Amino acid sequence: MITAHDFPSAHVADAAGMDMVLVGDSLAMVALGMEDTSEVLLEEMILHCRSVARATKAAFTVGDLPMGSYEITPEQALESAIRVVKEGRVQSVKLEGGKEMAPTIAKITTAGIPVLGHVGLTPQRQNALGGFKVQGKTAHGALQVLEDALAVQDAGCYAVVVEAVPAEVAEIVTKKLSIPTIGIGAGNGCSGQVLVQVDMLGHFPPGRFLPKFVKKYGDVWGECMKAIETYRDDVKSRSYPATEHTYPIQPDELEVFAN
Ligand code: KIV
Ligand code: NA
Repeated sequence: MITAHDFPSAHVADAAGMDMVLVGDSLAMVALGMEDTSEVLLEEMILHCRSVARATKAAFTVGDLPMGSYEITPEQALESAIRVVKEGRVQSVKLEGGKEMAPTIAKITTAGIPVLGHVGLTPQRQNALGGFKVQGKTAHGALQVLEDALAVQDAGCYAVVVEAVPAEVAEIVTKKLSIPTIGIGAGNGCSGQVLVQVDMLGHFPPGRFLPKFVKKYGDVWGECMKAIETYRDDVKSRSYPATEHTYPIQPDELEVFAN
């Protein structure tokens, strides 16, 4: 699984054979330049889901429910989920939380909308967690992650994202569940993996902070810099556009026009 936030990023993910594409609320930062995910609106998530869904022909496409769109009541959550599916055109929604979200997950799945769970580090709750901290590092914490994963499974989730927990903990959680786990910062013992596309492609300026678990598979920023700088230089030196980039006119027509 990989994230996408617009038509081109979804197009390449789908063409590259991703099983699942996630329109994660991380798009608040990587696509909209916001500080964190708490700022992104349901309407904005729907717009991005619509553009992604136009490109994902094979991949199962999931849209994040943003902070504030599902915590109040199960009814509020179902309304938001329906909007993300009907207007955003994705097949499934993801929401963060464990035991406390079980009635909400049951409400949405009962209405026929598949829900992807998200336990461990839940970034929408960063202020309550004291930042982006690894979860499940103590016996008690690990048990909490397991109980949350079991609760969202029992509530009807078809799979669950497990974020930022020790690899051994995620592996045991995976073994104890009957649904697949999708790890991010959770080692290779999960059923699957997810990464934020912009991060794994290296589509950001040098020096930006990257979480420990991200592997940089590309240098898209470097490629873009090279191309745009060369374009700038070519325009200034008038080597672009060259003859092959211009439209011809018949010499006799030009003669009449120029005189
Ligand atoms: O918003 C996001 O991109 C996510 C994944 C990293 C799991 O929730
Ligand atoms: Na997210």
